[in-house]
Amino acid sequence: MLKLGVNIDHVATVRQARGTSYPSVLDAAMLCCAAGAHGITVHLREDRRHIQDADVALLKKSIPVPLNLEMADVPEIVAIALAIKPDEVCMVPEKREELTTEGGLDVVGGRASLAQTVQAVQGGGIACSLFIDADPAQIRAAAELGAMIIELHTGTFCDASGTAADDELERLIEGARLAHSLGLQVNAGHGIHLGNIDAILRIPHLHTLNIGHSIVARAVLIGMTKAVTEMLERMSECESSPIRANAVS
Ligand code: PXP
Repeated sequence: MLKLGVNIDHVATVRQARGTSYPSVLDAAMLCCAAGAHGITVHLREDRRHIQDADVALLKKSIPVPLNLEMADVPEIVAIALAIKPDEVCMVPEKREELTTEGGLDVVGGRASLAQTVQAVQGGGIACSLFIDADPAQIRAAAELGAMIIELHTGTFCDASGTAADDELERLIEGARLAHSLGLQVNAGHGIHLGNIDAILRIPHLHTLNIGHSIVARAVLIGMTKAVTEMLERMSECESSPIRANAVS
């Protein structure tokens, strides 16, 4: 059965925007789990713009499903992963100025450093995934490095239209076939939403889809009526309380 990992970075983005303690990343994760999510994903970025170290530690000890930690291949973050031991680590390229991960890792070019990290992570009992484009050379390099999992970058397909989208989907299909033939678990993620999931599911051998932005965006809209109703109800209760009567007398 195809699994869903929910990326909840955006929940932390809302919290960090005001420096409050809410919305709680753990509460969000638990709601995802109660709704049937098979895993929770967070990205601990070097600039800590959303998820914080304490979030990762708290999620690891609290959630009833596997925790997947996205991270760059930098010693500081690798050390944190080895200390907290998420169930899975997904290595991603990271640029300070980007809004979100912009493309797959260059496994071919970064082979030497990545090989060490994959070994350290998997040696620490953590499954290691490499986020890559559906490029045969990158897929082969991921297998040669000994990574257990690749996550195919679906963002290019999701942003494309017409024949460019058809070509990219074909590349993803072929990439998944190659990865599977090399014994790699095939995950996919980036840019997936309700409008393109049917096309994404034409990719064979998929194990897990990691989806964040569209789910959190949808949650904001689906939850808006309830959030406003709750506040109006509370205002109405307070209006009829003696404290309010005193305030307006
Ligand atoms: N997979 C990886 C490796 C990512 O970096 C991201 C974004 O953090 C996702 C999946 C989820 O992408 P989206 O937020 O577009 O669903």
